[in-house]
Order: sequence, then C-alpha cells, then structure tokens
Amino acid sequence: MFIDTHAHIYSEEFSDEYREMIERADKAGVKKILMPAIDASTHGTMLQLQENHPTTCLSMMGLHPCSVNENLEEELKTVENHLKQRKFVAIGETGLDFHWDLTYKEQQYHAFEQQAEWAIEYKIPIVIHSRKSTQACIDVIKKYTPKGLRGVFHCFSGSQELAKSIIKEGFYLGIGGVLTFKNADLAEVATQLPMEYLILETDAPYLAPVPYRGKRNEPSYIPLVAEKLAALKSITIEEVETLTTKNAMELFNLTDDNA
Ligand code: NI
Repeated sequence: MFIDTHAHIYSEEFSDEYREMIERADKAGVKKILMPAIDASTHGTMLQLQENHPTTCLSMMGLHPCSVNENLEEELKTVENHLKQRKFVAIGETGLDFHWDLTYKEQQYHAFEQQAEWAIEYKIPIVIHSRKSTQACIDVIKKYTPKGLRGVFHCFSGSQELAKSIIKEGFYLGIGGVLTFKNADLAEVATQLPMEYLILETDAPYLAPVPYRGKRNEPSYIPLVAEKLAALKSITIEEVETLTTKNAMELFNLTDDNA
C-alpha cells in the first residue's frame, strides 16, 4: 500500500465527489491520506472527512504560513483548542513562505516556533512548508531537534546541500509531482537521496504529476510519483512502495488498522 502524506482533499475542488476521489485512491493502492490543516476556515470539512473515512483520512492540525495575518493569535488559539480535544497525526502544515508576501514574516516565525513547541509537547511530528525559505526553516528546527522534534519538509525541491542539512536533523523529505516535471532539478537531486528519508505526497489539489501536470491533482496519482522515483533510483516500484510506506508509518506513528 501507498500513503499520500500530504493532500488537501477537503478542498472545495473535490466537494462534488469526495467519496469517488477516495475510492479511486483506494483502487490505486493509496490506503491512507494525511490531511494538512490550513486555517480555521477549513478545519470543519477536514474533520468531517476523517469522520466519514476514519481509517483512510487522517487530520493534522496547524496554521499554514500563508494564513498568518493579523488574526494570528486567534488562529493559534483555535489550533491549541483542537489539540487539547483530540488526537492528530501531526502538526501542520506550518513553516515559512517567502514567496508570496513578506508582510507577516515575523509573525510567520512566531507561528512556526509555537507549532514546533506543540509538536514536542504532544509528541507528534511537524509538517513543514518551506517555499523560498528552506534554509530559514532548517535554522528554526535546529533549535528544536535537540528537544525531540521530528518531521518532514513537505514538497521538497531544494538542492543536494539542503537535503543533506535536513537529513542531518533527522527530518524526512516529502516527494511529490514536481519529481515528474521536465527539467526539474529535483529529479537529478533525487538520484542521490537516501530512500530511508523519503516519503510520498501529492499536495493535492496542486502540483499534479505528469501526465496530469496543470490539472487537479489527487491521491490516486501517487503511483506516478513512485514510478518516477523507482526509475531514478533503479529500483522497482514495489520497493519504493514498501520503503516509503514504512518511513511514513514510522514518522507518523501509524498502524495498519490505524488510530
Ligand atoms: Ni500543503
């Protein structure tokens, strides 16, 4: 079985066919789908999906860096309240985004560090978004890894050097559709990455792999990423499946029947 470790399947883009989309994932061998939170506006739909599909769809809890604004304290309070009430598979997604808007850069750091502390407190991994900010995110997690922080840099697409620094901290790399893009540096970098630190993700509905590039992405496309990774590493797709699933189960403390 495959695990899609990062999919925003509660997105409105699927609202007419959640059930069908999850069935397609199941047929493709994708038996677990981890859902990163964005902000209070999407928690309801996310938790509802988990209620409807409790062994397949597992929620994270957190505040996305692109949702950090003047509501920050209120949003963090909401996250904290959810964390107190029930179990989540991870904190996320959090991190830093220096691509879109730097207005709330300082607040992004504050939100990220608060969430790193919660990940340690609740003993769950952290899922990091690091667009145009990978080194900055590494610098933040370095302060927390000695206290036991674990996690993944989701949608990793950086250099070999950045990958090495991340792995040195014991963090995993989330590999998705970008791997299949023509001229993606990631394909070259991926040949050198140790399988022990790779997990698969779609980031649905974004970043669909070839041949669906530019279209809506969904968890059933995970085997396309696995196939590409297998070709780059000169191993079988079954080996990619076994290794990445084992890594994801370890990182997110998953069991076969789940909790
Ligand atoms: Ni995401």
